[in-house]
Amino acid sequence: MSTHLELKDLSIRFSLEAGLFAKYGRFVYAVNGVSFELKRGETYGLVGESGCGKTTLARLAVQMYKADEGDVIFHKNDGGSHRLSELKKKELFDYRSRVKYVFQDPARSLNPRMTIYSILTEGYRQSPAWPGEEQGRKEAEEMMQTVGLNAEDLDRRPADFSGGQRQRISIARALIMKPELLICDEVVSALDVSIQSQILNLLLELKEKFNLTMLFIAHDLTVTTYFCDRIGVMYRGKIVEEAPAKLMAEKRLHPYTNLLYNSIPSRMNEALELEAYEPFDSTQPLEGCPFYHRCPRREEKCLKLPELQDIDGERRLACYFPMEQEES
Ligand SMILES: Nc1ncnc2c1ncn2[C@@H]1O[C@H](COP(=O)(O)OP(=O)(O)OP(=O)(O)O)[C@@H](O)[C@H]1O
Ligand SMILES: [Mg+2]
Repeated sequence: MSTHLELKDLSIRFSLEAGLFAKYGRFVYAVNGVSFELKRGETYGLVGESGCGKTTLARLAVQMYKADEGDVIFHKNDGGSHRLSELKKKELFDYRSRVKYVFQDPARSLNPRMTIYSILTEGYRQSPAWPGEEQGRKEAEEMMQTVGLNAEDLDRRPADFSGGQRQRISIARALIMKPELLICDEVVSALDVSIQSQILNLLLELKEKFNLTMLFIAHDLTVTTYFCDRIGVMYRGKIVEEAPAKLMAEKRLHPYTNLLYNSIPSRMNEALELEAYEPFDSTQPLEGCPFYHRCPRREEKCLKLPELQDIDGERRLACYFPMEQEES
């Protein structure tokens, strides 16, 4: 499979200057040197607990934030590539029509005063690809049906819809310009379990229908293992382990991945042990292993940052003392 999107050594920190910490010149080190690739047609799952930098990374990928370091390179389906750091305004339009982001919070990302039709077509209208009102309306009606809603609902407003339906609207908005790559940020986390599976099935259908490459962001491994081809696990702004979903389900080598896996509800006992650990503090610059403070296997060596290394052509790992596990 060819490479579709390359994220190269991305870092970003946010200043806390406007706030309480002004005089200390403090920062949040949200993403600390992250590199990975999305292959054309694959679904890549990015997992990790709250605050580890998943949304920030997604926003770097669509250039809602500009990276302090690193770059994003997009290889278009029809040839040629875009390098985000060098994009001119016109190219940014092109990039943003090809790479779409579905926001984490559908309630807040849909403007309550706008009709669904305006929401769906707002970005499209400003792009050179906008086909005019009549054809635009037709495409919006089709897209509503594609995501399992009614064409007549285009004239209603977000408040008329349930959480699951709003998420379908967000997805329709992302797909109306027929992108190549879709970034889904916790698109099911806020929904009831029964609705979750409906949305996941819809995404699987749409992925086939539109030949999409997908970056699927989630905070638990269960959904991701089922839904994704490969999984990258993030902790404190770093990827600590990456492997095909199937291999990850069999075996986890990083102590954090292992812990994350064990914290799914059916294994609550181990999860309870987790509670004893402090969450990480992102206002400290990262020096050693990001998981150092919580790791049961840490040694002095771990105070030096372990590199994310290819270990067998399929898995990458950033750990000096990986788990030795029997395959389950
Ligand atoms: N615009 C911002 N300004 C300042 N700090 C920010 C900003 N955006 C994110 N952060 C901080 O950066 C860190 C990473 O946040 P991010 O939202 O990327 O995490 P996440 O993995 O998406 O978490 P969640 O699972 O809760 O969505 C957090 O400490 C967060 O508070
Ligand atoms: Mg997030």
